[in-house]
Amino acid sequence: MTVIPGGQIVNLEGLSIGVLGGTGPQGKGLGLRFAIAGHSVLLGSRDAARAAEAAAEVRALRPSLPLDVRGGTNEEAATFGSVVVLAVPYDGHAATVTALAPLLDGKIVVDCVNPMAFDKAGAVPVPVHEGSAAEQTAALVPGARVVSAFHDVSARRLFGTNSSVNTDILVCGDDAEAKTLVIGLATQVPGMRGIDAGPLRLSRELEALTTVLLAINKRYKTHAGVRITGV
Ligand SMILES: NC(=O)c1ccc[n+]([C@@H]2O[C@H](COP(=O)([O-])OP(=O)(O)OC[C@H]3O[C@@H](n4cnc5c(N)ncnc54)[C@H](OP(=O)(O)O)[C@@H]3O)[C@@H](O)[C@H]2O)c1
Repeated sequence: MTVIPGGQIVNLEGLSIGVLGGTGPQGKGLGLRFAIAGHSVLLGSRDAARAAEAAAEVRALRPSLPLDVRGGTNEEAATFGSVVVLAVPYDGHAATVTALAPLLDGKIVVDCVNPMAFDKAGAVPVPVHEGSAAEQTAALVPGARVVSAFHDVSARRLFGTNSSVNTDILVCGDDAEAKTLVIGLATQVPGMRGIDAGPLRLSRELEALTTVLLAINKRYKTHAGVRITGV
């Protein structure tokens, strides 16, 4: 049982969570935190051997805990998860979602992808025809229960030996039940709170916010997060 901001109780026992692009720092970091919370995690990759290595890396960060983290293909991760996290670069986002669309149909799909480009001035949001990466997923898989979340947390804070991750996670979505579950998942991580940040159409603002956080990181040499006051 997890009490989320606002006081609602969410039952989140023993979820199966697949991570597409699970060999990257964001996928490994989210996989680590979800496994510490007691969920079963399958890190997916285009190469199952790379995913097995990534899973071993995650387990090695908490050798004293019986973390249920394994590796496999992205197809296996999409099949395994009742919750499937999209953690590939934006360049590979549409192709990955399109290829796995039949497996994602009906599932809770958590999109943490930030479409952005870099130039001399730093990071800048990249326009997305559908409005945002998360809305692109919803357009490509109309039956998926898409939730936009974990854009505003640095992998550097997720994937490490720190016991707490000091940030709020802003969560957008149109499926109230799926959004509440993801808010609960975020709130289970010590130091984090999931905050309901409105409908999926606001995901563009969440995804773009990351470019601001990257500018702050550069200026202050840190890995900044966000805190919402008044909640
Ligand atoms: N890093 C952060 O701090 C952070 C924070 C918030 C959100 N995010 C978002 O989370 C996503 C993942 O971030 P990351 O830093 O972990 O990214 P990454 O390391 O660049 O990529 C993650 C994994 O995606 C797979 N991949 C790479 N190119 C691909 C392609 N064209 N098609 C399909 N799969 C591809 C690779 O796995 P295989 O080669 O093993 O398949 C790679 O290990 C990004 O969209 C990013 O915007 C990142």
